[in-house]
Amino acid sequence: MKAFAQDRYGGPEVVSLREVTEPRPGPGDLLVDIRAASVNPVDFKIRSGTLKRLIKDSFPLILGCDCSGEVVAVGDGVTKFVPGDQIFARLRKERIGTFAERVLVDAVFAAKKPASLSHAEAASIPLVGLTSWQALIGIGHVEPGARVLIHAGSGGVGTFAIQLAKHLGAVVTTTASTKHHALLTRLGAAHVVDYRTCRFEDAVDLCDFILDTQGGETLERSFKVVKKGGVVVTIGGSPDATFAKAWGLPTWIVWALRLLMRNVTRLAREKNAHFEYLFMRPDGAELERIAALLRSGALVPVIDRTFPFEETREALAYVESGRAVGKVVIVQER
Ligand SMILES: NC(=O)c1ccc[n+]([C@@H]2O[C@H](COP(=O)([O-])OP(=O)(O)OC[C@H]3O[C@@H](n4cnc5c(N)ncnc54)[C@H](OP(=O)(O)O)[C@@H]3O)[C@@H](O)[C@H]2O)c1
Repeated sequence: MKAFAQDRYGGPEVVSLREVTEPRPGPGDLLVDIRAASVNPVDFKIRSGTLKRLIKDSFPLILGCDCSGEVVAVGDGVTKFVPGDQIFARLRKERIGTFAERVLVDAVFAAKKPASLSHAEAASIPLVGLTSWQALIGIGHVEPGARVLIHAGSGGVGTFAIQLAKHLGAVVTTTASTKHHALLTRLGAAHVVDYRTCRFEDAVDLCDFILDTQGGETLERSFKVVKKGGVVVTIGGSPDATFAKAWGLPTWIVWALRLLMRNVTRLAREKNAHFEYLFMRPDGAELERIAALLRSGALVPVIDRTFPFEETREALAYVESGRAVGKVVIVQER
């Protein structure tokens, strides 16, 4: 089968289209014929080796973390899916590889694709949908009437998280360039703050929950607008020591992150806020709940551009530009 693979970490030039051996399903696996795969910023971070302390990669490495496609074979013990099923999934971080014609997916991480969605639409959801779900519901316990701030509302995560927060009954504020305001209002944002012309902390009321996608200065400034006892979740920038410990990273990394994140720790303490770095995880049960909301039309995919499979490197470069509005999806016609 064909796949975009790399033999070392590096820039865009390390990824090339080549023939690789088709994988065979083991116990609990689905072999999936990929019809569409989304591109996420994590892909170029893995490609370059930025995340090598968090994710143990092996080479040749095929990028791509989520997909939609057809099950063509199942391994022993799989009872929930049969060949012919249309599924979508976020793959386990140790076994990615959706920028290929076929891939192995752990059956426990897959869900049936809503029939109302195309494969491109379905593929746009798993990583950003689960990230939003785990932040807003799993950590934030966002309830009706909650004031929620979502940074970078126009991004892949933001366009989904705004909709989910609104669906949960929250009053949503988001940061974005003015040109995206109409879209984000349509998705459910009550207030849109132009991060290029205005310091958001001067324009935002105190919030119960903040989803930070940027890290660094944006994260630190976010504590100015979190209520006492509120929740700040970051998915951008650096993990903190608590996360590093929970992931069993070496002690020197735990200490380095404690030092690096000491301002954030202090700011959280001053606001008596719960602060957490989230690295999202695959979860088939949560994806099924997201699928139900997609079926009902409560949530809709937001796709900026699709690229044919042969243009996978161009799709990666487009996301790496940091200017995508919603999701970028690689599509394979069969
Ligand atoms: N830890 C995790 O589990 C996890 C999961 C998912 C994503 N992430 C991370 O979260 C970040 C966002 O992911 P994504 O998929 O949403 O990225 P994305 O789709 O590439 O985000 C691009 C969008 O961000 C906007 N943007 C850029 N800088 C901004 C700023 N300072 N304030 C407001 N908007 C800004 C851009 O709008 P303009 O063109 O108008 O600037 C653009 O529309 C990435 O770093 C990603 O790696 C982490």
